[in-house]
Amino acid sequence: MMNWSNPVSRSFNSTWGLKTRLRVVVIGVVVIIGFILLISLGPRSKRALGLSEECRIPAIYNFGDSNSDTGCVSAAFRRVPYPNGISFFGKPSGRYCDGRLIIDFIAEKLGLPFLSAYLDALQANFQHGADFAASGTTIQHVNGELFGSGLNPLSLDVQLLQFEGLKERTSELYAQGYKIKYRLSRLEDFSKALYTFDIGQNDIHHALTTTTEDEARKSIPDLVYQFPFAIKKLHELGARTFWIHNTGPIGCLPYLLLKYPPNPGNVDEAGCVKSYNEVAKEFNRQLKNKISELRTQLQNSLLVYVDIYSAKYSLVTESKKYGFVDPLGYCCKHVGNSSLHCWNKEKKNGVAVYATPCNNPSEYISWDSIHYTDAANRWVANRISDGSLADPPLPFSKLCKKSAL
Ligand SMILES: *[C@@H]1O[C@H](CO)[C@@H](O)[C@H](O)[C@H]1NC(C)=O
Repeated sequence: MMNWSNPVSRSFNSTWGLKTRLRVVVIGVVVIIGFILLISLGPRSKRALGLSEECRIPAIYNFGDSNSDTGCVSAAFRRVPYPNGISFFGKPSGRYCDGRLIIDFIAEKLGLPFLSAYLDALQANFQHGADFAASGTTIQHVNGELFGSGLNPLSLDVQLLQFEGLKERTSELYAQGYKIKYRLSRLEDFSKALYTFDIGQNDIHHALTTTTEDEARKSIPDLVYQFPFAIKKLHELGARTFWIHNTGPIGCLPYLLLKYPPNPGNVDEAGCVKSYNEVAKEFNRQLKNKISELRTQLQNSLLVYVDIYSAKYSLVTESKKYGFVDPLGYCCKHVGNSSLHCWNKEKKNGVAVYATPCNNPSEYISWDSIHYTDAANRWVANRISDGSLADPPLPFSKLCKKSAL
């Protein structure tokens, strides 16, 4: 199963943004002062998207697995090794990726800095949100059996408790007049923030690789059932705007294709495992229904369901068109030892041995056989940003509660 802490096992995990400062220098020109203030001091998001002040999203709180882990597992258990991070950060950034994750590109598009991992004890800044996502985690609570098969105990329920703790402690710190406000979210921003989810892949992976496909299918309702609890709990804590990713085409991950080679009859036109993708699609169908149901119950909220599956699948099927080679291949591996993976750092005769990245990671969709490359994540983020894969079909620029109510 996927390992998030064991060097020889596996992990589903993974990302983040840029800060720019706009300085307007007006020399020798008399301009209305209010206008100058507006363009020089306006929030980054406004500058990025031309949003009105009412539509500004001040923070993101993210929950998920390695697809959006910007450093929780790396901080809590073991640093993600080189060559992760080489394409963008120039060093391991806590993400299982050569660069940025989808959540990083979302933050960028909203004009926000990359999210600090909640568990990062060194450089965390929660002014614009926090990332609770942790590699190898599941929707379901991790019992002994799941833990034994390599899943991470920082499951969705734990991530929600962490959020609750962050929010309570933020209030307490303000009440005490604690002087680290520059690292804390403003209290009023909790209700204006975007609450994002990308989780389920590890539950499906675990079910598919430890039970029959039929049983994996039967496990879906219990997984999907957890979303209303999570969202209602956040809603009670003040959350109003939710952005929920469905799960990707797990049958197209090189890791699974290599480890569990499909029968020829079980391969689709893209070369992916048909039955695995069918299970992912069934999860997505039920998730979409559950979110619709929830929408009728939480009428003062905005719940956006986002079809990541379609974006990722079309990237695989039309890879050439978008400049990617070998859609089911991957970039980073230990040359000559297929039992080691990109996330494994080995010691040979006392010398650290790292995986070797390909020459041009941006030509690959898959970075390490499970996680997408910076280039692929950028493509997916661009693909979902116009809202055409979202329900309701809201582009990022309209992603605020008020615009939809
Ligand atoms: C591959 O790596 C594993 C784990 O470190 C090791 O046990 C095995 O001997 C290696 N195989 C080769 C061919 O080097």
